[in-house]
Amino acid sequence: MATIHPATENLFKLADRKLLIRGRTSRSGRVVVSGAKNSAVAVLPACLLAEGVSVVQNVPDIADVAVQRQILESLGAEVTDGAEPGELRIAAGDIGTEVPYNLAKQLRGSVLLLGPLVARKGRARVPLPGGCAIGSRPLDLHLKALRELGAEVEIEHGHIVARADRLVGTEVYLDFPSVGATENLIMAATAARGTTVVYNAAKEPEVVDLANFLNAMGARVVGAGTDTIKIEGGRELHPVEYTIIPDRIEAGTYLLMGLAGGGSVTVENVIPKHLEALLAKLEEAGVELAEGGDCITARLAGRPKALQLKTLPYPGFPTDLQPQLSAFLLLAEGTSVISERIFEDRFGHVDELKRLGGKIEIDGRTAVIEGVESLTGAPVTATDLRMGAALIIAGVAAQGETLIDGVEHILRGYERLEEKLAALGVDAAWVT
Ligand code: UD1
Repeated sequence: MATIHPATENLFKLADRKLLIRGRTSRSGRVVVSGAKNSAVAVLPACLLAEGVSVVQNVPDIADVAVQRQILESLGAEVTDGAEPGELRIAAGDIGTEVPYNLAKQLRGSVLLLGPLVARKGRARVPLPGGCAIGSRPLDLHLKALRELGAEVEIEHGHIVARADRLVGTEVYLDFPSVGATENLIMAATAARGTTVVYNAAKEPEVVDLANFLNAMGARVVGAGTDTIKIEGGRELHPVEYTIIPDRIEAGTYLLMGLAGGGSVTVENVIPKHLEALLAKLEEAGVELAEGGDCITARLAGRPKALQLKTLPYPGFPTDLQPQLSAFLLLAEGTSVISERIFEDRFGHVDELKRLGGKIEIDGRTAVIEGVESLTGAPVTATDLRMGAALIIAGVAAQGETLIDGVEHILRGYERLEEKLAALGVDAAWVT
């Protein structure tokens, strides 16, 4: 039976509540950024590649990690909390090959079990995953990558079933630099005989983090962070201690939230380079920025200037900050045009933002935002993670009260939300 530690239990309790934000009350504040969700959901499955106990630090206490943890436990791994907050110890002894449907349906990242299970066991049965409702999210590239390594992969009764008695290194071209497909491929290729070369690989920092983790385990993954990654397979992997990178999306969310409240905001424990695309756009919007070591401070006098932007694979502007930036731009001077190029249907926030008085219209995969002088609080509902973050940002910027339902989506990706909102000076309360 899966164990849930106290903080996570609290997290599930909060999921029944609504978040009440009193807008335009925030002061200046400082937020310490947690470990990256998208690194954690990839590194946890990667722990299964080596027998023995791996220790992962800076793991955020969020619902997505809790589900990934339960998936590892259901496969027979023992996962315990370490001595430090954010430390997990994963003992991957004898493990199974079947990921349960009731867990996989909660988390898109459950598909990241495919690569490690095929590598370690030569078998995997993974349900077609769930996750955010942001448009169709096919898995063709994951399946193609495994097939090219020599696995037989079928979809049977809603499950991906992969079998491989032997994986063989090869050259794989990804039609799109998919983060998940790159990660599954790298993990599977660690067990392949010979060298695998991934062309058009995803360059996201979380892919680099996974590659660094695998290299610490004894793998040889070269070129992560560029579009060509080489994996020399067949090396023996051993358990490791590893600290995952800070969450650039969480950092970006709090920067935007602080600015929306009208104060100055500092995010601490960040890698500024990972936030370059956002910082460039904030400067264009008139935000004053100061970087120092692992901190970024941002302040804005008056309203932001309108922006034009497209979401793109890293190092382009991240789709995971598009809803939050859209919320921030509701109060901009002028008309912003935001084009979503990664996911076909990532504008769920638009109708909810309109409830607060936002003037925002969708034309295909583009949102046109006509900046207004003020927003007014209203009841709204989040139906996905980043949309939830966008609603908080809009609520912080609006006059009066915004009551946010669907908080469970927000808790999937934001650790100690209430504490961090308080650190930012946001007047927020959980209500039933
Ligand atoms: C990861 C992130 C998610 C982020 C996304 C894009 C994790 C756990 N999640 O999701 O937060 O929003 O990257 O930066 O890391 N695609 C295909 N075929 C495939 C796979 C993907 O066509 O087999 C398409 C998708 O439909 C989408 C695009 O590729 O249009 C990007 O998806 P991908 O990079 O795979 O995103 P995820 O790994 O699911």
